[in-house]
Amino acid sequence: MTRTKTKILLDDGDPQETQRIRRLVGFLDGQTTNPSLIAKNPEVKKLVASEHGLSVREQMAEYRKIVEVISPLVGDAGVSIEVFAEENTTAEEMLDQAREMFTWIPNAFIKYPCTREGLRAAEQSVGSDIRVNMTLCFSQAQAAAVYAATNGAKVPVYVSPFVGRLDDIGENGVDLVANVKRMYAAGDGHVAVLAASIRTIEQLLYCFSIDTDLVTVPAKVLDDWARNSFPMPDGNFKYTATGKPMLYQELAVAWAGKTVHTAVWKEPVRGRRMARRLNIDGDGQGDLAGHGGEHRAVFVYQIDSYRYWQSELRRNDFTHGQFGENFTVDGLSDQEVCIGDRYRIGSALFEVTQPRVTCEPTLRPLLSEGRGRTFG
Ligand code: E4P
Repeated sequence: MTRTKTKILLDDGDPQETQRIRRLVGFLDGQTTNPSLIAKNPEVKKLVASEHGLSVREQMAEYRKIVEVISPLVGDAGVSIEVFAEENTTAEEMLDQAREMFTWIPNAFIKYPCTREGLRAAEQSVGSDIRVNMTLCFSQAQAAAVYAATNGAKVPVYVSPFVGRLDDIGENGVDLVANVKRMYAAGDGHVAVLAASIRTIEQLLYCFSIDTDLVTVPAKVLDDWARNSFPMPDGNFKYTATGKPMLYQELAVAWAGKTVHTAVWKEPVRGRRMARRLNIDGDGQGDLAGHGGEHRAVFVYQIDSYRYWQSELRRNDFTHGQFGENFTVDGLSDQEVCIGDRYRIGSALFEVTQPRVTCEPTLRPLLSEGRGRTFG
């Protein structure tokens, strides 16, 4: 088979499979693992089923043994090892595991979730030259946050958009891979896109067709690919989308010789929008370490403040959404609204959680050179 520009990794937790697939395909650039894949490893299954079971320490020891065998079998894309993390796991707890895991093998990449805490852990990791693979990426905003959190990294960084799982919820998962690639194209290349959660040969071929940096593939899909004599996408290749398109969001802005990721400029929309725990559909945040999250999911700004800035700056070209707000409201002045107040809009209930926080480093320069001129 012809080598593609896209590096091929195996998504599996069993070294026997690494050997088998390497023979089948002829090479493996790397491998990704995660706790669920490790739990499916035949040896681990036996141990878990035994009377004794496995303590947390023993699980770590088994995980280590497995990646030690895989490590020399794969190429320079390395072996991704995932920290054990739940909803409340802190960056510090992830880092403790990461520091240990990174010493297990010479080609380790540490997998952190694309969450606020995962991003904090990644930022500190790259600062100490720990390679990271930011997993569970479901949106372009998360990929932008990975870029921002790992800026200046001297070691390789991966971001893993989850294609199959997006398909599972009715989105066209491969669009995210293409969108992130497009967004990063204006950047300095410090983050590589690793397409993950691949379920079909079609998805694999799509990743090849757009020269995705890396793709991690379950053995079953690679078996199918081999059985079909390793087809490659040609000029006529057309991907059959299964879900609704994921539209490209303009989050990358060139500023002062750097690429800044921001979703600060909003456009007014008509009709209903779904409000979720972390966001309103169609919105995003470029810097998730500073913005977004449950307590900053929605940003409100008053028309009165627009009037103030119009007169202060002698301008009349502001459009709603100019200040990065999700809701431009008439009334609801800062004097009358209190933290804890609740407002119902349609069937969604919103709670006031904190005052506005001006994003000095991003807003001032962006607004001064972009759509606006200043923001106090
Ligand atoms: C890769 O790093 C991921 O662990 C993997 O692709 C998970 O995908 P899935 O759980 O949807 O199969």
